[in-house]
Amino acid sequence: MSYLGKAGDTIFEDSDQLIRVLGIETSCDETAASVVALDGRAAPKILSNIVLSQIEEHAAFGGVVPEIAARAHVEALDGIVEAALADSGVALDEVDAIAATAGPGLVGGLIVGLMTAKAIAAAADKPLLAINHLEGHALTARLTDGLDFPYLLLLVSGGHTQIVAVRGVGDYQRWATTIDDALGEAFDKTAKMLGLPYPGGPNVEKAAATGDPGRFALPRPMKGSAQPDFSFSGLKTAVRQAATAIAPLSDRDVADICASFQAAVADALGDRVSRALNRFRQEFPDRAKPALVVAGGVAANRTIKATLEALCAEAGFDFIAPPQKLCTDNAAMIAWAGIERLRAGMAHTNDADFVPRSRWPLDSVSAPMVGSGRRGAKA
Ligand code: KG4
Ligand code: ZN
Repeated sequence: MSYLGKAGDTIFEDSDQLIRVLGIETSCDETAASVVALDGRAAPKILSNIVLSQIEEHAAFGGVVPEIAARAHVEALDGIVEAALADSGVALDEVDAIAATAGPGLVGGLIVGLMTAKAIAAAADKPLLAINHLEGHALTARLTDGLDFPYLLLLVSGGHTQIVAVRGVGDYQRWATTIDDALGEAFDKTAKMLGLPYPGGPNVEKAAATGDPGRFALPRPMKGSAQPDFSFSGLKTAVRQAATAIAPLSDRDVADICASFQAAVADALGDRVSRALNRFRQEFPDRAKPALVVAGGVAANRTIKATLEALCAEAGFDFIAPPQKLCTDNAAMIAWAGIERLRAGMAHTNDADFVPRSRWPLDSVSAPMVGSGRRGAKA
């Protein structure tokens, strides 16, 4: 049977069947491939999960350079896919579908990943699933923790800062987003201003560990505001002003600025999240033990994690932080989103015609935010 000729057909809808999906992720600066399996009602298994980071290629530029990223994906992807299949012990003709990130992200990388996936799908006569990268992040907690719907997701990465109510497969409602910089971007820009290496987040956290969080009174953007969204560009400006006022900076100054910045971020984030926890309680009163899931690179930050953990404990929410390797960009989450879509009867053969989308909101109902995701570089 050919999956490619029958546009629009629903494929594969049997929850007890063994499903194995090859996932491909190339939306930013990680080239990744993975095979994930779901066997009947047992817990899903990640059979392989290969991630090649391009951090070194981009470090000299202090951020991701789209052309370099696309070229690096072209060079690496075939080998990464081969390695993921070899590691999994599953042959290409044994997988049930190929799932690839089709957006949002850097369009060059998306084209490389999606075209490669289409070629593999066509050659092996397998269905192709065009996956939204954000859906991958949103559904990861079901892969790692078997979480039931609905739950709340906080996605904090280099390109996104969002709170999403995850109500079902394909059923997402964005409750908050950033009106300017993403949180990871704010960490990266702060690091750059202070002369710390790229990527900024881990280096700001490291410097903050020995700093005094009370030395600089930085703003807590949006704290107390009835509008649910995030904003970080004002904080970034305040950091610049604080640094300029005392330049040249000693190591102690840098540590104190980092600690003060991190404390401001944790405080502002906590305010936004507690608002969302309250809303979740109101909208889903039947959920006895609701959960907050974190995803994205910034979720690695211990101060932020501790703040969120405390908030959840106070509000009676489970706090779920999947292993860091599955919080940051990877292809297991893409393969898993493919399995979820197959299982829900939501995969369609006409995905073979899907064109990559650099912008692709999870929730088409929410109005786009002016200025959000300007960099468009990371998701
Ligand atoms: O999810 P991710 O690996 O990539 C995408 O953005 O898609 O997130 C990377 C972002 C970067 O901005 C990085 O600086 C930030 O996550 N990050 C951190 C930490 N580790 C990574 N931010 C704060 N503290 C950290 N420990
Ligand atoms: Zn991501």
